[in-house]
Amino acid sequence: MKVVKIGGEILSDMGKMDILKEYAEKNFPAAVVFGAGIQISERLKNENIPFRFYKGERITTKKMLAVITEEFRKAASVITDIFAGRGVYVEGGEIFVARRKSENLGFVGEVAEVKKDKPEEILSQNKIPVISPVGADSSGNLYNINADVSAAALAGSFRAEELFFLTKVSGVLDSAGVILSEISAGSIGALIEKGVVTGGMIPKVRSAANALAEGVGRVLIGETVIL
Ligand SMILES: Nc1ncnc2c1ncn2[C@@H]1O[C@H](COP(=O)(O)OP(=O)(O)OP(=O)(O)O)[C@@H](O)[C@H]1O
Ligand SMILES: [Mg+2]
Repeated sequence: MKVVKIGGEILSDMGKMDILKEYAEKNFPAAVVFGAGIQISERLKNENIPFRFYKGERITTKKMLAVITEEFRKAASVITDIFAGRGVYVEGGEIFVARRKSENLGFVGEVAEVKKDKPEEILSQNKIPVISPVGADSSGNLYNINADVSAAALAGSFRAEELFFLTKVSGVLDSAGVILSEISAGSIGALIEKGVVTGGMIPKVRSAANALAEGVGRVLIGETVIL
């Protein structure tokens, strides 16, 4: 089993979408987790709903959750389309059991547990699960979970052979802009402290380290390695 996470920013990039399709089909059984960060920001701006981030996490209100859910649905349909009948959208709330991450972040969740039955059922039908980064608690409250964190939790629960983060950049860059061909888990803290890794790359490298610790075989960030 392999897991591929695709960033929202590249859903309209045909070259990247081709990579997604080829990767998931060639590496089947594979599951897709997607983000939709820029689409959600755009929608919130259009609807005059103010938002801000705290350490890379979008502080999430109940009102925002409705918009977020809709944008995930739209993103999912773009992705399932490329798999022409083979992609099956599953709302993350059916898979990720979430708990509130911190009182200051509102409805931002962290993964407490992964329910594997739904993706397993889809994979057994020879289809590709396409999963949104959302979790639900036992009372049915929904939480927004960073898509990288969601993908790593899914990969960890399946002890996936590989977790592939497909994103705008083709790899993690060093301070000179050169792709780092390999990063050890131990060097991640320093890369963040030195400001080499910033913004959305922070949850990616942290999730990568967590996935490896949970038994995932290897993690790829950017498509450089597989091309
Ligand atoms: N050292 C680095 N190397 C490469 N990219 C970096 C680095 N530090 C920060 N970044 C930024 O991280 C971004 C990737 O994270 P981002 O959260 O924007 O995308 P994503 O996770 O693929 O999409 P989404 O959040 O919608 O799921 C890159 O586009 C780049 O601007
Ligand atoms: Mg991101």
